[in-house]
Amino acid sequence: MRISPLFCALSLCVCGVPAVFSQAIPPPAQPGNSPGQPGNPPGQPGNPPAQPGTFPAPQPPQAQPVPPPADAPYRNANLPVEQRVADLLSRMTPQEKASMLAGSGWMESTPIPRLGIPAIKMTDGPMGVRSWMGSSAITSAANAPARIEATSFPAGVCMAATWDTPLVQKEGQAIAQEVKALGRDMILGPTVNINRQPLWGRNFEGYGEDPYLSGRMGVAYVQGVQSEGVIPSVKHFDANNEEYERHRINATISDRALHEIYLPAFRAAVEEGNAWNVMSAYNLVNGAHMAENMPLLHNVLQNEFGFQGFVISDWGSTYSTAPTINAGMDLEMPGGQRAQQWMALPQTAQAGNGDLWLTPDKVMAALSAGQIQQTQLDDNVRRILRVIIGSGLFDHPHSGGGEVDTPAQRAVALQGATEGIVLLKNDGNLLPIDTTKVHSIAVIGPDAAVARTGGGGSSLVRPKYAIAPFDGIRDRAGNAVKVSYALGVGMEGEDPAQDSAEARAADLRQAVEAASHADLAVIVVGRDNKIESEGHDVPTMDLPAGQDDLIEAVEKANPHTVVVLNTGDPVTMTGWLDKTPALLDMWYGGQEGGHALAAILFGDADPSGKLPVTLPKRYEDNPAYGHYPGQNLQVDYAEGIYVGYRYYDTKKVEPAFPFGYGLSYTTFQYDNMGATPRLARTGSTSDFGVTVDVSVQNTGTRAGAEVVELYVHENKPKIDRPERELKAFQRVELQPGETKWAHFRLNRSAFSYWDPATRAWTTDAGDYEIQVGASSRDIRQKKVIKIPASFLQPR
Ligand code: BGC
Repeated sequence: MRISPLFCALSLCVCGVPAVFSQAIPPPAQPGNSPGQPGNPPGQPGNPPAQPGTFPAPQPPQAQPVPPPADAPYRNANLPVEQRVADLLSRMTPQEKASMLAGSGWMESTPIPRLGIPAIKMTDGPMGVRSWMGSSAITSAANAPARIEATSFPAGVCMAATWDTPLVQKEGQAIAQEVKALGRDMILGPTVNINRQPLWGRNFEGYGEDPYLSGRMGVAYVQGVQSEGVIPSVKHFDANNEEYERHRINATISDRALHEIYLPAFRAAVEEGNAWNVMSAYNLVNGAHMAENMPLLHNVLQNEFGFQGFVISDWGSTYSTAPTINAGMDLEMPGGQRAQQWMALPQTAQAGNGDLWLTPDKVMAALSAGQIQQTQLDDNVRRILRVIIGSGLFDHPHSGGGEVDTPAQRAVALQGATEGIVLLKNDGNLLPIDTTKVHSIAVIGPDAAVARTGGGGSSLVRPKYAIAPFDGIRDRAGNAVKVSYALGVGMEGEDPAQDSAEARAADLRQAVEAASHADLAVIVVGRDNKIESEGHDVPTMDLPAGQDDLIEAVEKANPHTVVVLNTGDPVTMTGWLDKTPALLDMWYGGQEGGHALAAILFGDADPSGKLPVTLPKRYEDNPAYGHYPGQNLQVDYAEGIYVGYRYYDTKKVEPAFPFGYGLSYTTFQYDNMGATPRLARTGSTSDFGVTVDVSVQNTGTRAGAEVVELYVHENKPKIDRPERELKAFQRVELQPGETKWAHFRLNRSAFSYWDPATRAWTTDAGDYEIQVGASSRDIRQKKVIKIPASFLQPR
């Protein structure tokens, strides 16, 4: 693991091991603050008009204290971060401290010029830099007052499909460079919420259904961003797995499911990524809004995981003053005039919140009333200052002016889009396209000529250009292959003129005509950023109106048809899947999606993406079916830990395509697996590890990459456990005929489970099967190992 020197300064860590920051444990949440009021989420129409610039900070105290001397210790970049923070804190008035808990603008924290404390200037993400001038409803509109253009990277689910952590780290770094070039300090990403069910409007943003994979991706993104001295925001803590009633929905989740499924990615981002910031979610978990959820924020995130950075609220997700502060939520966003105007709108209140709660007057009142203690306020402010100083922002403000969307940044976007494409079917080796035989291609579909770069809401980046599938295919085909286009069917709800029965019939006829005259048809179906978006869930797993009919009709007209999915969610495919010879999932590929698709279709790149989510056959098959979206504002995560393949594989429900699945144009053979448990004793502690090695050979004739997946299965568990759990993976690039070894080292955590009886992670002695394979249902090598009781005894 690469430890950023900034974090070392931040946490006073020794030799890469983060020291747990010791601080006073705040008193329990105090009752008595008003409960959350209804409000309108950002990203919805009706928000106040955007005005560029930062709104003035809340009024500083009347009698200004003297400015600190130029040689005050906190200004000395050579002193340890904690010493500088303590010095700075000691010079602040209570009012100044209180003012730091609220934003000063839509995307700016409150600066204190007297002390030289800068505002943290944020920008939305995670798939690149989105405008910071207001809610997405305003900034994504064609007539947006401020046009911020940046590289549009592939959606999180596409990046997860690469299983390429070094690439995700590069992506984080590239995004952070753009953040700095645009004069900002912080990017609101990564999103590490688990894709619990197929209809969450933000499934495209997340890294899929598995906590380990999401954790690896989150850590890589955080490390990439922080390596540039930019602050990431790991969001949304915790269990933001549906948009339905996101301010008011209360998720009831067992302790075990929280620890095994919904918390590990945050834990990894904090413990291994040393993340500087976490964003609290809108929703309630087990009865408390996340911004005031003492058990999860204070007890788990801060105490159990040792999080030392600051917690920021999601935009308009605070619902009280003292309970929020006491739970360890440090910075309410947004703030300032624009936030006040937004809160004053009736629709904001209607949606679930209608006030700002950490304004200086409210914080000071809570302090005077004894609802919060001075030590508590100091803790909150200390966490913010620690990041401002520890990230380098205090000493080196980002003044902007660098380049954005450079060739290197575009290259990362293209690599992500290419590696993320998953080849799901390829009967008769229809792909890659053989240009000695294919002289004409009909490119068809509502997602063919429009570049659908990402889902909607706060993550949608406005790129300088974006390559649609049709553009990419035409560019690549050159003069040798004739490429035609037909819409086939309009995207439901996008253009009313295309939504009528007559228009559909005419579009379909044209598509059939085009397909029947071409050697090959490529149909790009899926959704757009209105259907898949933050702010609401997707109404159905089925493709939008007319798309299934389009696929069936085109396949009838031309048996050489490739179907391409351009969505972030699983979709129903039962009507046509059996008859479809070739199928690809390109997710949302960002601005380079069309080039990436063409590279895969023509075989310039070998498909190496693997599914980060199971694609079920029917909506009714998904584990949350019957427990989503909930009733009376209550959603019960009754499936517990059986999320994704943990459910499908254990309960033997056959999916359309399993987790981890993805074909290649070449073939790989796994051999020579070894797995050796070893006890390691260091000083007074002992622990065990298991080394696993397996050889992988490229047995085909093309270069390719294989993602080797390692799962653990316990043979006779004491407690109900899933059939298998992903515990490691490695992406191996291989030339034809080449063999490489994949080496893994599993530690105790790969074998443990959260025991509800003891409320602790537990590992039992016994037999475990180590399974290595190409998907959760394609285990190629396995070996049973024994973990003896003697390995588990403390020394
Ligand atoms: C979203 C966050 C986003 C924030 C700021 C919220 O609506 O949930 O993910 O970062 O807005 O735009």
